[in-house]
Amino acid sequence: MSLLQVKDLVVEFPHRHGTLRALDHISFDIAPGEILGVVGESGAGKSLTGAAIIGLLEPPGRIAGGEIVLEGQRIDKLPFDAMRHIRGRKIGAIFQDPLTSLNPLYTIGRQLTETIRAHLPVTEAEARRRAISLLQDTGIPAAEQRIDHFPHQFSGGMRQRVVIALALAAEPKLIVADEPTTALDVSIQAQIIQLLKKVCKERGAAVMLITHDMGVIAETCDRVAVLYAGRVAEIGPVHEVIHQPAHPYTAGLMAAIPDMTSDRERLNQIDGAMPRLNAIPTGCAYNPRCTQRFDRCLQERPELMPAGATRAACWLHEPATLETAR
Ligand SMILES: Nc1ncnc2c1ncn2[C@@H]1O[C@H](COP(=O)(O)OP(=O)(O)O)[C@@H](O)[C@H]1O
Ligand code: SF4
Ligand SMILES: [Mg+2]
Repeated sequence: MSLLQVKDLVVEFPHRHGTLRALDHISFDIAPGEILGVVGESGAGKSLTGAAIIGLLEPPGRIAGGEIVLEGQRIDKLPFDAMRHIRGRKIGAIFQDPLTSLNPLYTIGRQLTETIRAHLPVTEAEARRRAISLLQDTGIPAAEQRIDHFPHQFSGGMRQRVVIALALAAEPKLIVADEPTTALDVSIQAQIIQLLKKVCKERGAAVMLITHDMGVIAETCDRVAVLYAGRVAEIGPVHEVIHQPAHPYTAGLMAAIPDMTSDRERLNQIDGAMPRLNAIPTGCAYNPRCTQRFDRCLQERPELMPAGATRAACWLHEPATLETAR
């Protein structure tokens, strides 16, 4: 059974000259304890997808269609207070900048124990014991002393460890992590990702890991969803998506990563840029950049369809196309 189901999610921004559709029927699910990577170029819709799930879309952005279901319960239309309770208790969030998650005026111990006690029926002493244990698990040295320090007394990397502890404090089933290491020093990014993976696996928390870094996806995730212009271009087990990409865009992303190809001569970027929301081409949104496009791609928009070991929104995998190619 799925922990989280996102079904046909549509997010729109009303606008003076009409409506911008930023997410256009996004669907995927996450199993309990699974790590799903969400990858794509800047502007593809990764952060909006995460924000919609945790109920923190910023107005005027709004969910204009679809459903978000967590453990069988719809959470996309909940009142703010109900959603705030779900955030924390059932879904933990980690953002790019740890300072957005931490209150500079309170010790980290106070923030951890308040979160724990807001959601779990434990005494102050028990909450503090749990907070220390979380800080130890996330690799904060001398956690018994550090718990009484303020956020500014930690380095960027240590602060993000505290944020991971805070996201896990109320034992949520799902962590949504949006570019959790992008703001950190390159030398510690891999450590923090490994830590996130380890503590979530230990606690059985599923993770939706948003990143533009395919290398991180390869090392961390069980499955991956590739977003393009507000839609899922391809989704499948991480090994298959990386080694046998079915969508030409995924193949292009892979070719642009140095460590993914043995043949360095083939290294290249995908020509062109992702379209703006107000200028998405008809047919397949990727068609202007696609070296494999054919007539149908210019007219009809492909939905996700079975494509080898993954699912891809690409007409190349339509049974009729496969038949003609034979
Ligand atoms: N407040 C807003 N008003 C209009 N468009 C927005 C707003 N916020 C985001 N968008 C658009 O939605 C698209 C997806 O944004 P986002 O989810 O932040 O992308 P990503 O995280 O993949 O880089 C982008 O094209 C962006 O321009
Ligand atoms: S549908 Fe056509 S244009 Fe789009 S990715 Fe597939 S082949 Fe390329
Ligand atoms: Mg983003």
